[in-house]
Amino acid sequence: MTDRYAVFGNPIGHSKSPKIHAVFAAETDQSLRYEAILAPVDAFEASFGTFVANQGLGANVTVPFKEQAFALCDELSDQAQLAGAVNTLSVLSNGTIRGDNTDGLGLVTDLQRQFGSLKGLNILLVGAGGAARGSVLPLLQAGIAKLTIVNRTQSKAEALVDIFSEYGDVVTLPIEHTGHSYDVIINSTSSSLSGDVPKISYQTIAEDTVCYDMMYGKEQTAFNAWALAQGAKQAVDGLGMLVGQAAQSFLIWRKVKPSVETVLTQLRAEL
Ligand code: ATR
Repeated sequence: MTDRYAVFGNPIGHSKSPKIHAVFAAETDQSLRYEAILAPVDAFEASFGTFVANQGLGANVTVPFKEQAFALCDELSDQAQLAGAVNTLSVLSNGTIRGDNTDGLGLVTDLQRQFGSLKGLNILLVGAGGAARGSVLPLLQAGIAKLTIVNRTQSKAEALVDIFSEYGDVVTLPIEHTGHSYDVIINSTSSSLSGDVPKISYQTIAEDTVCYDMMYGKEQTAFNAWALAQGAKQAVDGLGMLVGQAAQSFLIWRKVKPSVETVLTQLRAEL
């Protein structure tokens, strides 16, 4: 029987994961099937249980199930533990369910692909929700000098500083007082979905600053359009992070690292 993988979410109809993994499988000569499964909002665990009972070997998990996936794991990677969320489930040969979180590493590998090494950089992370939390440890492990987290609701940024300050130089500031220049600014908020831009000071952007919005779309995101208008050197969207997290999941399951370029070019053309 062909090895079976899936992505669980709700909604899931527009997920690009089946296509991404099909391209990875073809390119690395792996024989596998990867499908999208719509789990009822109140029955993720049962839905995943059925998948495992039917020889499912691994799954990606997306909105709104990443915390529920975290809760059902028998063992967790350090990164999943600290992220408080799981996007990659693996069914080990003894039946153990292991949880990983590859979102943050997907971000870091895409930042490195686009901007080069992150070593010694001064980075501003905007937002303090699940996407931000999953990014902090991988950014610190990539050797950045300092991470400043700002959020509309500052108490949530403070909570992240409390969790991560033992792993590196992580601080928070009020979102409207971030007025000095950063090497990289990452927007992890969902504000671009509604065409909004978080209220960070325009002085935050210097002529060498590069910006990254975890959102993506056919058109420039609201945040990236704003960043370029303020004089940012470059502004990149999050399509590469999506492919990057998928590549890390594929590596965990198949022990082979796929290249991201082929599928990225295809996805970009189809936006
Ligand atoms: P995710 O898992 O995508 O991070 P989340 O956990 O709901 O989603 O977090 C959403 C993030 O986007 C939060 O940082 C939120 O700010 P608040 O904590 O103040 O709610 C931020 N956010 C959403 N819409 C925003 C907007 N229009 N302007 C600024 N920040 C916004």
